[in-house]
Amino acid sequence: MAKEKEIKSIEDLPGVGPATAEKLRQAGYTTLEQVAVASPFELAELLGISADNAKKAIDAAKQATTINYLEASKVLERRLSIGKISTGSKGLDELLGGGVETNGITEAYGKFSSGKTQLGFQLSVNVQLPVGKGGLGGGTLFIDTESTFRPERIQEMAKAIGLDPKTVLDNIYVVRATTVEQQILTVERADKLITEKGIKLIVVDSLTSLFRAEFIGRGGLAERQQKLNAHVHKLQNLADTFNLAVYVTNQVIDNPAILFGDPTIPVGGNIIAHAATTRLYMRKSKEDKRIVRIVDSPNLPEGEVVIKITPEGIRD
Ligand code: GTP
Ligand code: MG
Repeated sequence: MAKEKEIKSIEDLPGVGPATAEKLRQAGYTTLEQVAVASPFELAELLGISADNAKKAIDAAKQATTINYLEASKVLERRLSIGKISTGSKGLDELLGGGVETNGITEAYGKFSSGKTQLGFQLSVNVQLPVGKGGLGGGTLFIDTESTFRPERIQEMAKAIGLDPKTVLDNIYVVRATTVEQQILTVERADKLITEKGIKLIVVDSLTSLFRAEFIGRGGLAERQQKLNAHVHKLQNLADTFNLAVYVTNQVIDNPAILFGDPTIPVGGNIIAHAATTRLYMRKSKEDKRIVRIVDSPNLPEGEVVIKITPEGIRD
């Protein structure tokens, strides 16, 4: 019996030659772990092969990737290596246990004008501060699906904390996505930009608007959820692989089924609820005040805090 080839990299997977491997890399599958968690359907579509063959490659990747059991002390060590980005508000930072964390997805949901985009801008600036000074000394990949990115506003926020506005703008890589496919591909191909430019924050503003708009008449709710699911998993994957923070915004819809309490619920249902490490519900208050509440976080106490959107940016 011929000895089976040992699988050490994606090239060694069954049915994957150098050209296919390159395609995989381009799409962001650079490691066996990434292939192991891909969906056969997604991979088949990407490579133009049958779902069966895709499944074979995925199974082989699964077999080749060993599970590393970590002692709890190592888990703690890893937790301690997690970086935090200041939001500009001390109160909100405290509520978040120090700021917006790397290795996870932070979702902000709320109605229009609740401050989701402004917080995204502030994080894009603050991430550039040095480690220990509220930042991670890194850049931002900003995926703008609503055409609401404002460089002038970034400059204001940068100046307010003593950073050079031009340098700050130079370290924010903006992708204007107008279709779901563009949004997905930007994330799937982000590895190279992340390593080359030292990206420490990915903002997707908004995560759901294109998905909502494009799938509305298609009756394709299942397809939408499946794509959204793969998309957020890829984001989580990048957060883990590169120890970076992911901040996504989400709209709310009125749920007429809720008769008591607040009837607004975030778009995307369980998919984002499960994927997001931290969920922030933002509400408008008087004038420039906004109320931010932490919703079902595994390691943070529930609570809310009032922040202000000032000319300088987000403050207490
Ligand atoms: P949608 O994207 O429409 O769902 O809303 P959003 O939650 O992203 O709201 P956004 O972050 O855009 O917040 C808008 C609010 O921020 C406005 O109502 C203003 O009060 C405030 N804001 C926006 N730009 C500025 C600015 O340049 N200076 C100041 N001081 N406030 C601003
Ligand atoms: Mg917005």
